[in-house]
Amino acid sequence: MQIVRTSEELALATGQLRRDGTLALVPTMGALHAGHMKLIEEARARANSVAASIFVNPLQFGANEDLGRYPRREAEDARMLEGAGCDLLWMPSITDIYPEGFATKIHVGGVSERWEGEARPGHFDGVATVVAKLLLSVRPDVALFGEKDFQQLAVIRAMVRDLAIPVAIAGIPTVREADGLALSSRNSYLSSEERAKALAIPKALSSARDAIKAGNPVAAALDASKQALTDAGFNKIDYLALVDADTLEPLGKPAGNMRLIAAATIGTTRLIDNVLV
Ligand code: PAJ
Repeated sequence: MQIVRTSEELALATGQLRRDGTLALVPTMGALHAGHMKLIEEARARANSVAASIFVNPLQFGANEDLGRYPRREAEDARMLEGAGCDLLWMPSITDIYPEGFATKIHVGGVSERWEGEARPGHFDGVATVVAKLLLSVRPDVALFGEKDFQQLAVIRAMVRDLAIPVAIAGIPTVREADGLALSSRNSYLSSEERAKALAIPKALSSARDAIKAGNPVAAALDASKQALTDAGFNKIDYLALVDADTLEPLGKPAGNMRLIAAATIGTTRLIDNVLV
């Protein structure tokens, strides 16, 4: 696996890979886990070569968020990627991505406004801006993103469509621990006590899904699951909602393609998750 940092090195390396065949990109912020590795595996199935990027993007963190303590494990990440058959790793510096005078921001309307957009103002502008730059720098045939960040995937799909960025976007199902907790780089913040309580998130989502599928009123199902999160020790629930899977608009009753999405905080750790309905 080749490791590059500057955009010049990147252009040379991707030029070669693109001449050899199709290229897939897996953008990440590092602290890699089996969820990221699943994206690499799926990327290998979809293209001749695979590039990954690791960049902890300051633009997508709010002033009071965890940018400073976000886990950084470059050497270990590189070993994992190499073992998974990744061909190229791009680890740009902040000034490689945002050189002096960088003044562009991408705002995707509609799907970005609610939920994470409301709880984390500016977050999706930061995501859209960096993902556009990563895509335009690597110019992959396909880029892979996890359904774990369901709204992020919708925002990226909307941006790629609206700006006609020539790339296929693939969404990959969430990889979970054996007990059901979605893998996340932020799980490393959890104490063992919090880790046990965190399980209430996938449980709340699946019990709401089962209640809705059984024909119970949506509002009652959501209220019961929110109560379960509070009882389990979550100190803040940003949302637990049934939404249209394409528009992310809330649904008061079942209709079309649906997703249940949730965000809640335990101690100081904010977790998000979602399930298909
Ligand atoms: P990061 O949180 O590192 O996630 C990188 C990719 O891995 C995202 O597409 C995310 O949805 C996916 N992912 C995370 N946990 C997963 C899991 N348990 N199962 C499957 N996929 C999972 O998301 C970001 O970074 C950033 O916002 C980024 C897109 C890189 C832009 O900065």
